[in-house]
Amino acid sequence: MKLWQGRFEEETDPVFEKMNRSLGVDAVLLDVDIRASRAHAKALLGCGVLSHEEWQSIDRGLEEILQEYTPDEVKALPYEDVHTFVEATLIQKIGAAGQKLHTGRSRNDQVATDFRLFVKRAIGLVVADVEAVQHALVGSAAANAGVLLPAYTHLRRAQPIRWSHYCLAFYEMFERDRERFEQSVDRVDVLPLGSGAVAGSNFPLDRESIARELGFGRISMNSLDATCDRDFVVEFLSNSALLMTHASRLAEDWIIYSTDEFGFLELSEKVTTGSSLMPQKKNPDGLELIRGKAAIIAGSLTGFLSLMKGLPTGYNKDLQEDKAVLLSAFENVRLSMSVLRFTIRTVQLKSAPMNKAAADSFMGATDLADFLVTKGVPFRASHDIVARAVRSALEKGAGLDEIDLTAFSPFFSELPPGYLAAESIVARKRLIGGTGHRP
Ligand code: ARG
Repeated sequence: MKLWQGRFEEETDPVFEKMNRSLGVDAVLLDVDIRASRAHAKALLGCGVLSHEEWQSIDRGLEEILQEYTPDEVKALPYEDVHTFVEATLIQKIGAAGQKLHTGRSRNDQVATDFRLFVKRAIGLVVADVEAVQHALVGSAAANAGVLLPAYTHLRRAQPIRWSHYCLAFYEMFERDRERFEQSVDRVDVLPLGSGAVAGSNFPLDRESIARELGFGRISMNSLDATCDRDFVVEFLSNSALLMTHASRLAEDWIIYSTDEFGFLELSEKVTTGSSLMPQKKNPDGLELIRGKAAIIAGSLTGFLSLMKGLPTGYNKDLQEDKAVLLSAFENVRLSMSVLRFTIRTVQLKSAPMNKAAADSFMGATDLADFLVTKGVPFRASHDIVARAVRSALEKGAGLDEIDLTAFSPFFSELPPGYLAAESIVARKRLIGGTGHRP
């Protein structure tokens, strides 16, 4: 069933028809399409295109369709897209009045309206998912505040930090991701309906009241722009790609931390899998899939940007691809956030190996140099003094806390006891943003 057959003499090629069909994907817009159609019908009543009876019959008919069908049932039906399904089903239901619904409207402004409604709702759900991950991170930080671990740079031991500091680093990253999603709502929250196919509508539709009806913050100011741009889709994909990039870095850390070689973490059996061949294996598949999906979502961002960049201004059918790409990103972001949250809540910290790694005295080298600074030695010189002490300890196969440091500087005779203990190294970083507790 098509809304445009009149001009054509020939039947559509069945293979092309399959390609052109988007109902399998855009059926999820069923409820927003019906809401937008009801708002449009009200505007048609307002400008005298529909009588009160016609409007009432359309409004009831649309409400019935919403009650009678689920997106899953609609997916397989023989219509081109969700807009075609709704209009054709309405006409079957109520007859002549239904034929008036599409007055002053195009699928171009209709689909842009539906999709903006959908994306607004999607953003709300992702924001809540991110908050739940942040909540889990704060939980782990609070429950394990006494646990220390090495902070790594270049994946080499750098300086000891608190587990809570590690968790809250990701809290901060996710906070910016959450903010980015929230800030994007304002740009999605714009009503295109009334833009028609490209130039606007010949009917004086009250766009402000349509916007109020649908809960949009404002109306679009240019019909050409409103029907042809999908920057809100790009923004959603970009925000998703960045969120997933952060999730992927956490996943990568934990894949490493849970190896036998590191032994810092034990992942729950609920998010790991075994091997079909090697009976001993316990693989971190949940985290690996998060890492993999991050790559695919970054790819969908570049894919969709590439789709957009060469389009002649105005609607082009390429834009129909926007749904598949966003829906897949949306679904995978939600899955990933949920698995990540569960992984964080169920992970077991092996505090003994972590604290032991954190106690590596070489990670106190910077603190030794800083100690000399407090005695008036310029940092560049103190760095060099400690570097020589490091080299000597390495040659002896001893720790920095096991050699006679006074051989390198007499000031080291004043070094307070326990100066190189991980706890005291951590405690000294007590400025805002550091890993120590503030006084
Ligand atoms: N299914 C189409 C889409 O998602 C609806 C708009 C069709 N417009 C058109 N001029 N063919 O983009």
